[in-house]
Amino acid sequence: MSDAGYGGRGNKDASIVNPRGGSTLSPAHETSGETTPATDNAFLAGRNMSGGYGKGPDILHDCTIAVNPGEIAVIVGPNGAGKSTAMKAIFGMLDLRQGSVVLDGTDISALSPQDRVGAGMGFVPQTSNIFPSMSVEENLEMGAFIRRDDIRRTMEQVYDLFPILRDKRRQMAGELSGGQRQQVAVGRALMTEPKVLMLDEPTAGVSPIVMDELFDRIIEVARTGIPILMVEQNARQALEIADRGYVLVQGANAHTGTGKDLLADAEVRRSFLGG
Ligand SMILES: Nc1ncnc2c1ncn2[C@@H]1O[C@H](COP(=O)(O)OP(=O)(O)OP(=O)(O)O)[C@@H](O)[C@H]1O
Ligand SMILES: [Mg+2]
Repeated sequence: MSDAGYGGRGNKDASIVNPRGGSTLSPAHETSGETTPATDNAFLAGRNMSGGYGKGPDILHDCTIAVNPGEIAVIVGPNGAGKSTAMKAIFGMLDLRQGSVVLDGTDISALSPQDRVGAGMGFVPQTSNIFPSMSVEENLEMGAFIRRDDIRRTMEQVYDLFPILRDKRRQMAGELSGGQRQQVAVGRALMTEPKVLMLDEPTAGVSPIVMDELFDRIIEVARTGIPILMVEQNARQALEIADRGYVLVQGANAHTGTGKDLLADAEVRRSFLGG
């Protein structure tokens, strides 16, 4: 581990986590679910998003998701709640019928996903997030597709973060274990040197030990100053490392608060964390 000052789990360095001295909203107000979550300090925010697929019905209903500078924000909720849809909406893969997406103070609602990558967004989707028949290194090179400069330094940083990928760099990505494939997917997204990283279920299908390991790496990335917005099925563990948590139900904000608040909220515990 890197720095003794960061002892224990969680993204707890106050100088990174809370540069502006914290929210003025009380936890009770925020976890009520009645009001739109605040996005004032957000580095990336999808605000009041409504929309669905093609001409189908709305999946998202006035949904607001945001991540602040230096923070980890986590979206949890039941299967089919619209978590991936919210991520796709923020990344520009869904036509919003209402709402907007703001990145670093700029409204990017009209940008294509590729242009959002150019603007500094890295996205690891829930499925098909690697090229299985390409080597690990080729996957990383593909990740850097928008760059015209020297990518070797970034690749070394990815290999430093995930040393196993350096050992396996000539191997087909599809031959790796689930946890290693997720490392390739995250590494690929890091190759564009994003200003913010979005991860849809980065620990899907991995063992608890590998999940812990991946969370540690994700915290490490956040500490380099890249805010992280992630969807997680492992709600309890994810909220433990979350500066901010969103519980989505049927495409709408049900509960919002710090990870700690949500873990302590009786209703959230009963309905979403198994008591
Ligand atoms: N490509 C699509 N076209 C049409 N409907 C879709 C599409 N993808 C998802 N949906 C629908 O949108 C709703 C929300 O799905 P979504 O994948 O966003 O949920 P989720 O919260 O990510 O679920 P999970 O926990 O299973 O990943 C579901 O009713 C789903 O059937
Ligand atoms: Mg999903």
